[in-house]
Amino acid sequence: MAARQLAVTRDQVLEALRDVMDPELHRSIVELNMVKDIAIRGGDVRVDALLTISGCPLRETIIDSIKTKVASLPGVERVDVHLGVMTQEQRQALVAQLRPGPQRQSPLLAPTSKTRILAIASGKGGVGKSTVTVNIAAALARRGRTVGVVDADVYGFSVPKMLGVSGHPTIIDQMIIPLERWGVRVMSIGFMVNEGEAVIWRGPMLHKALTTFLTEVHWGEVDDLLIDLPPGTGDVSLTIAQTLPRAEMLIVTTPQSTATGVAYRSGKMAEKVNMGVVGVVENMSYFVPSPGAEPVYIFGRGGGEELARMVDAPLLGRIPLDPAIREGSDRGVPVTIGSPDSASARVFFEIADALLGAGVPNG
Ligand SMILES: Nc1ncnc2c1ncn2[C@@H]1O[C@H](COP(=O)(O)OP(=O)(O)OP(=O)(O)O)[C@@H](O)[C@H]1O
Ligand SMILES: [Mg+2]
Repeated sequence: MAARQLAVTRDQVLEALRDVMDPELHRSIVELNMVKDIAIRGGDVRVDALLTISGCPLRETIIDSIKTKVASLPGVERVDVHLGVMTQEQRQALVAQLRPGPQRQSPLLAPTSKTRILAIASGKGGVGKSTVTVNIAAALARRGRTVGVVDADVYGFSVPKMLGVSGHPTIIDQMIIPLERWGVRVMSIGFMVNEGEAVIWRGPMLHKALTTFLTEVHWGEVDDLLIDLPPGTGDVSLTIAQTLPRAEMLIVTTPQSTATGVAYRSGKMAEKVNMGVVGVVENMSYFVPSPGAEPVYIFGRGGGEELARMVDAPLLGRIPLDPAIREGSDRGVPVTIGSPDSASARVFFEIADALLGAGVPNG
């Protein structure tokens, strides 16, 4: 008979559990004190873990990752996982750990924060701010960045649909955990109201909702936080500039802007709220009717360049008018995820790379 395998130790199991991440909080369950007990009997291991809330939507994910990690240890034959729920005190301790310091301030607000904050703005509505936001966010995530998107369009939120994400966020002791899709953490009023319901809020409530998104949502260590602004951005931009003084602006325009003075207004807007402009993106720049055909400049030409000159920032890219972009948004799969090799997706990746400092293309 073969020599009996030595039984696994408690320390070995605990070590293995260090690699199990809470799928929402993105931290080790050991570090978060979610492992309550480990019992070992020969090759049988039982792990008692504590969830933050009883209705945790991702409990199966946690069970699976605990089982997989522990089962891979030599000497383990069976793994049992039992999930309990944290007490109020345990939850408070966890939140305090995620948000150290006075008033449990969001790490985003710390002057030492390394998160890059970009508000996506335009001088008029419907030019593609939300489309640009979700596609650049997904492109950055694909490049390995940890990315968050704040849907600051409280009345006309469109980010949840464009990213194909719905549901209600988990709230742990008043700390809101963003939902996640395509590697992008997302917060939107759309997750707080019922489908089809309109948001009828006055100015102060709008301001409060936004500051909540910026300060009370647990974004974690995000590299980039993109903020999709509503059309006619005055108030909202001001709130953002006040709450996050490090925020910069990325301005979206159509090629037509030269003729309409919209470019000028966009530039003035950035000036007024005192945000730096990192770049300009021209959207709906041209249409290619069939592969290899000459581009058609449906909305004219030159708006992006003109605006870039005016705000003294680089033109980071020109995005074609492409039905695939609209279809991607409509079915919740951004073109940068659904067809990453298409010509349109490549432009979004170029813009993302330019934002990462990997060389700015020459417009
Ligand atoms: N390059 C593009 N090609 C095809 N369709 C596009 C393109 N950019 C945006 N669209 C479509 O145009 C519409 C408006 O875009 P989007 O909602 O992104 O604009 P917006 O600036 O966020 O609008 P609002 O000011 O209302 O927030 C959407 O239906 C979107 O799918
Ligand atoms: Mg929008």
